[in-house]
Amino acid sequence: MTDSKTLKQALEPTADAAWVLHDDGCDPLRENDRATRFAISNGFLGVRASQVINRSPQSVASPNTYVAGLFDTPDADRAVPELVCVPNGLQVRIGLPEGQLVQHFGPGPSHPLTLDMRRGLLLSECRLVDGSDVSVRLRLLSLVSQDHRSLGLQLLDLEVERGETEMTLEAAFEGVDRDLVAERLENELGVWRTRHSGKRLGLAVGLSLRIDGQEAAPVVLAPFKWSWTWRSRPGQIVYLERILAVARSDAPDQDPGAEVRDDLKAVSQSGWRSLLARHEAAWANRWSFSGVEVEGDAAAQKALRFAIYHLTGAANPDDPRVSIGARALTGADYRGHVFWDTEIFLLPFYIMTWPEAARSLLMYRFHTLGGARAKAADRGWRGAFYAWESADSGIETTPEQAVGPDRQITDILTGTQEQHISADVAYAVWQYWQATGDDDFLVEAGAEILLETARFWASRAQPEADGLRHIRGVIGPDEYHETIDDNAFTNVMARWNIRRALDVAALLGERWPERWADLSIRLDLHDAELKSWSDVAETMATGRVPATGLFEQFAGYFDLEDVDLSAYAGRTVPMDVVLGRERTQRSQVIKQADVVALLALLPDEFAGETGTANFRYYEPRCGHGSSLSTAMHGLVAARLGATGMALDYFRRTAAIDLADTKVAIGGGIHIAAQGGLWMMTIFGFAGLALRSDGITLTPHLPASWNSLSFSLQWRGRRLAVRIDQANLKLDVRLDSGLPMTVAVYGEPHGLRVDQGLVTDIRRSDQGD
Ligand code: BGC
Repeated sequence: MTDSKTLKQALEPTADAAWVLHDDGCDPLRENDRATRFAISNGFLGVRASQVINRSPQSVASPNTYVAGLFDTPDADRAVPELVCVPNGLQVRIGLPEGQLVQHFGPGPSHPLTLDMRRGLLLSECRLVDGSDVSVRLRLLSLVSQDHRSLGLQLLDLEVERGETEMTLEAAFEGVDRDLVAERLENELGVWRTRHSGKRLGLAVGLSLRIDGQEAAPVVLAPFKWSWTWRSRPGQIVYLERILAVARSDAPDQDPGAEVRDDLKAVSQSGWRSLLARHEAAWANRWSFSGVEVEGDAAAQKALRFAIYHLTGAANPDDPRVSIGARALTGADYRGHVFWDTEIFLLPFYIMTWPEAARSLLMYRFHTLGGARAKAADRGWRGAFYAWESADSGIETTPEQAVGPDRQITDILTGTQEQHISADVAYAVWQYWQATGDDDFLVEAGAEILLETARFWASRAQPEADGLRHIRGVIGPDEYHETIDDNAFTNVMARWNIRRALDVAALLGERWPERWADLSIRLDLHDAELKSWSDVAETMATGRVPATGLFEQFAGYFDLEDVDLSAYAGRTVPMDVVLGRERTQRSQVIKQADVVALLALLPDEFAGETGTANFRYYEPRCGHGSSLSTAMHGLVAARLGATGMALDYFRRTAAIDLADTKVAIGGGIHIAAQGGLWMMTIFGFAGLALRSDGITLTPHLPASWNSLSFSLQWRGRRLAVRIDQANLKLDVRLDSGLPMTVAVYGEPHGLRVDQGLVTDIRRSDQGD
C-alpha cells in the first residue's frame, strides 16, 4: 500500500451516517459553536475544532487547546484558578509569493467539518484560491489519542488543483507565548511553566512533509514554526504529518521535557499509522462497552452517539488527580471547574460502562478531601464540606461575583451556600461501590469520604425547639432561591449520606475490623459520635407534608407567588431575566430540577403515588434555566411512565448542544446534559435500577423507538440488554462473569453466561 492510499483511507469518514456529525460550515459567525461541538478530547488533551488552515486573525473562534489539571490564577488580583490555554499545535498557512491564499466562503459548502464519532476523530476540508490562477484543496485529520493520551496527530493532504507557482506551507503553533511562561524553547521541544500555580507543561513535535511522495526538508523559522517552499503544479499531492506529545507536571522533580521527548521518540519509531490504528482500536473498545442503539428514531440515535462521544472524550482513567469540568475540555466557560455535575450527571455513565474512569474521578474527590476538611473547619463545622467549584486542590474556587443574566454585577453565594455537593459526592461513592463491588476502593477511599461527609452534616444540622434538626441558610439545586432553610433536596440527601456512612462503619467493623480500627482511630471516630449521627438522621427536618406526600422545596416555598409558566411559552431568555431577580426569588419559579432531582436520585424516599404527586406539582413550576434540568425531568417522567413527555425532554436535552438552545455552546459542551441524556435513556426509558443483589429493568420506551440496546457492567460482569418494543421482548445476555439476578417489573430472573434471559415486556403507555 502506498503512503497516499493509506492516507486517503484515513481521511474517509465512517460510511454509516449515524456515526458522523457533519456540518457544511458556510457561516463564519457560527465558527465558535462548531469549534465546541466538533471538539476532540481524550480526558487529558482537549482541542477545539476551530479553523486551523489560513485562519484569519479576525476569526471569532478561539483555537483553544486544554490540558486537564493545568490550572493557573491569571494574576494576583484574580485569585480564581482557571484552566489555561496551551499552544495550539495545528496551525497551517499556505502562501504564494504575493501573499497568503484565502479561504473561499461563498455559496455552497465551505470548510466542512465531519466528526467521525466511531473513530473519535475530526475530518475537515477547505479550498484555498487566488483568483482564477491558483486553487488548492486541503483535507485534514486531527485526533488526540484515546490509546496514549499524551499524543496528538494531524494529517494533511494538499492537492494542487490549479496553479504553477512557488508555494509555501508553514506549520506553526499558535499561542506559544500566550498564557504560559517559556522556560525552554527549542525548535521542536518546549517547556513552559504557569505563572502562579507551580505547574509545568512539556510539548514536543515531530513533522514531516512529502511532495509527490518525496520527503522535503523544512526551514525552521522560529521555535515551533517551520516552512517548506516548492514549485506547484496541477495534480500535485503534498502531505504533512505532525505528531505532538504533551505532558503536565505538578511536581518540581518531574521534567515534562524528558517525558515528551521519550513519548515522541517511541511514537516516531512506530509511525502515524500505528498511532491511528491504536487510537481507533481504543475507541472501538470503548464503544463495545458503552454503545447504545436506538431503532426507529435516527435523531435520538445520533444524539446518544454524540453524548457518548463527548463523555468518552472527557474522562481519563489514568489520572486520579483531575476531574471533569462543567464544559469538559471543550471550552472556557466555568474555567474548567468541577461541580456536582460530575458526580450526579456523569458518574452514572462511567460507573455502568467504564468503572476505571469512575474510580479515578472518585479518587480525585478522595485526594481533595483536605480542601473539603479545611472548608468545613473554616466555617466552624466538622468533616468534609466539598468545594462547590473545585479545580486541582479541592480549595473552594467559586468566584465571589459575576455578571448576572440581567447584566448586573451580583454576589455569588453558591460557594458558601450550595452545600448539597458533599452529599452528592457521597452518593456517587455509594453508587460506584454498589455497581462495581470494588471493596478495595471502599476500604481505601470511599469509606473515608462517606464518613467525613456524614460528619459534616451531623455538625451542620442543628437541633431546634421543635425537636427536629434544621439546615438553614443554603442554596439547593434551584439556584434562584438563596439563603433558604431546610431545602428538601439537601436535607434528605444529607440524611441519606449519614445513613450510608453508618452502614459503611458497620460493614467495615464486621468485614475488615483491622482496617476499621485504623480508620476510626485516624478519624478520631468513636461509637458515641456514630450514635449521635443516627439521632441526627432520625430527626432531620425534610419538609414532607404528611397529608399530601409533597416535599416542600424549602421552608416557606408553598407561600411564594405561583407564576403560571405556560403564559411565558416561547420565551427565549431564562425566567429570572423575564421576571427580574427579585420577583423570581419571591416566586415559586424554579431554575432546575430540585425536588424532582431528589425523586430521580432517591426514588425510595417517595412512597406509593407520592412520586407522581411531587412530579406533577413541581414540573410545571420549573423554568429549566440550567442545562442540567431537562434530563432529570425526562428521567423521572420516563420512570413514571409518561413516555411522551419524557421523549420531549429527551429532545430538549439533545438540542442544548446540537441546536444550541441555551445560546451558550461557544463556551463548551454542556457535558452534564450529555450525561443526563444517557441517564434518561438507561435509568428512565430502560428503567434500570441497582439493587444490592442485582439489577432491575422496568422498560418504558417511547412509541417511536422500536428497540433500545445497550451494554452494562455490573460487579465484574458484562451484560448486553435489548428491549425490543416492536415484538414486546426483553433480551438480557451475560457476556462474562458469575450468575446474577435481573428483575423485570420487579420479578427476579436468574441470568448466567450460558443462559440468557428472554422475557415478555408490556407495551408502554404513552400517556404524559
Ligand atoms: C447550574 C448548576 C451547575 C452549574 C455548572 C449552573 O447554572 O445551576 O447546577 O452545577 O451551572 O454546570
